[in-house]
Amino acid sequence: MAVSRICVLAIFFPFFVLNIEATHHVYRNLQSVSSSSSNQPYRTGYHFQPPKNWINDPNGPMRYKGLYHLFYQYNPKGAVWGNIVWAHSVSKDLINWSPLNQAIFPSQPSDINGCWSGSATILPDGKPAILYTGINPNNQQVQNLAIPKNASDPFLKEWVKIPQNPVMAPTRANGINSSSFRDPTTAWLGKDGHYRVLIGNKRDTTGKALLYRSKDFVHWIEAKHPLYSAKGTGMWECPDFFPVLSKSMFGVDTSVDGPFVRHVLKVSLDDKKHDYYLIGTYDSKKDKFIPDTGFQNIDSVLRYDYGKYYASKTFFDDVKKRRILLGWVNESSSVADDIKKGWSGIQAIPRAIWLHKSGKQLVQWPVVEIEKLRANPISWPTIKVLKAGQRLQVTGVTAAQADVEVSFEAKEFKKAEVLDYWMDPQVLCSKKGATVTGGLGPFGLLAFASKDLKEYTSVFFRIFKHQNKPLVLFCSDQSRSSLNKNNDLTTYGTFLDVDPSHENLSLRSLIDHSVVESFEGEGRAVITARVYPTLAISDEAQLYVFNYADADVKITRLNAWSMKKARIN
Ligand SMILES: *[C@@H]1O[C@H](CO)[C@@H](O)[C@H](O)[C@H]1NC(C)=O
Ligand SMILES: *[C@@H]1O[C@H](CO)[C@@H](O)[C@H](O)[C@H]1NC(C)=O
Ligand SMILES: *[C@@H]1O[C@H](CO)[C@@H](O)[C@H](O)[C@H]1NC(C)=O
Ligand SMILES: *[C@@H]1O[C@H](CO)[C@@H](O)[C@H](O)[C@H]1NC(C)=O
Repeated sequence: MAVSRICVLAIFFPFFVLNIEATHHVYRNLQSVSSSSSNQPYRTGYHFQPPKNWINDPNGPMRYKGLYHLFYQYNPKGAVWGNIVWAHSVSKDLINWSPLNQAIFPSQPSDINGCWSGSATILPDGKPAILYTGINPNNQQVQNLAIPKNASDPFLKEWVKIPQNPVMAPTRANGINSSSFRDPTTAWLGKDGHYRVLIGNKRDTTGKALLYRSKDFVHWIEAKHPLYSAKGTGMWECPDFFPVLSKSMFGVDTSVDGPFVRHVLKVSLDDKKHDYYLIGTYDSKKDKFIPDTGFQNIDSVLRYDYGKYYASKTFFDDVKKRRILLGWVNESSSVADDIKKGWSGIQAIPRAIWLHKSGKQLVQWPVVEIEKLRANPISWPTIKVLKAGQRLQVTGVTAAQADVEVSFEAKEFKKAEVLDYWMDPQVLCSKKGATVTGGLGPFGLLAFASKDLKEYTSVFFRIFKHQNKPLVLFCSDQSRSSLNKNNDLTTYGTFLDVDPSHENLSLRSLIDHSVVESFEGEGRAVITARVYPTLAISDEAQLYVFNYADADVKITRLNAWSMKKARIN
């Protein structure tokens, strides 16, 4: 992903205006400024980040010869976007990561002004190939191919760019806008023996997943029509297209097709800065994607995450037979604060991803390997009633670095407030934050709570009655997360496709110094938030369960763990 509007700063620093368009704010004068602050309360204990500097999109994830590879967009020189290369780390378990040298960096004309996002494909001979976007001397976006210098090396330390690069480029003949042509997907192999790959694109305001085909992975020909496109959606960044099994949690290789397979198209909408996905059918004869429901109403299109999560990408783990999702979580702090702390951006915990048995949505769950970091288990033995207005502290865990699972049973549906007309769930969450008493809700967790409760981040449910049925709202409210009001304190929210009269409401939050990643309804909705408490840091942070509703609720389960530090880079 990456390019677009020259930011406001250009007005103040006219000498630094870049003549390429970047979707990231371009702070030309700050791109090579480094910092070495030693006070680092916001660095994560088990979420991926490099020792310093800016990161964004995960690139080319794969499993190869027993190692997981993560490449990512990285500025080696500073804490804002710029100087972009592919940094590289490897892992045996997706949790502990070791850094390697930069894998792909500007070195030939077709990428001399930047090595932007792309994907890896494992070819039939078992060797990987990477397609990525390069920025050429004319600041045009083109697609390049890189292959391992030594495919016997499980670390895949060195990559060779083929001399034929670029392998796909905007031309006068194809009429592709050279500022809107990026982020190749993992390729898939059709029954005709030809590879297919998607490139994110837009024409006017129509977002497109351009389709290219190749016999040899080197010569690529644009198909007559895109795999899919949608008016009014703007630039599609980081498309991802993959099969899911209709009745199984197992993942399958990207080329798998057949009667038990449904397809998912995910796009990162540059205009919205969120990752949206469609479930549908892939017509392999016509090379078209037919979603069950399209982009007509953007508010009803599903998202991987209703908080901060962008430029995500999946890969198939052929050993554990699962599809894994990686995504970038950016900061909510100011650029000045990012520069002070010397870094910006983390990767979310890798998530297994599969189709829910309803067929209507995906389910995401942190990879099981993360549970190896759990220590000092706390388990509340009996079912506890949480009275109206009550708050209980969860003691015995390191509240700033924890994994918490809690389930609630709510029964007094007659007390639920009536929601007469549909409302944007995020707006509803901000209007009725964690402190507004409701009929049935809010109840949930207070993370990063300071002793005096001047600071806390609340993740909670509210149950409404809508069209005579219970409707579950899930919120993550950051409005009181920090006394430092220079942060983005936006409240996030979503409705949850769970019927609380048949199912208890479950919540799992991964809390890690400046991030709260919350999975609701056993992974049917996810909200990731970034927070920067000033009081509730490290040992000062506390954790509570609360119920600020008029009705009592029951806690049917509460398990919490302190999380050990992962070895990361
Ligand atoms: C390729 O990698 C293998 C495995 O690490 C190593 O044994 C071999 O020496 C390497 N070959 C070259 C030419 O570097
Ligand atoms: C190409 O895309 C850029 C970036 O979105 C846009 O500003 C420009 O107007 C587009 N050019 C044309 C000819 O459509
Ligand atoms: C990153 O965070 C900021 C502020 O919280 C937000 O406005 C912006 O859209 C985000 N960018 C991306 C690419 O997610
Ligand atoms: C909620 O959990 C309790 C305790 O495990 C169980 O007895 C009850 O049946 C559950 N309620 C629903 C609606 O599933």
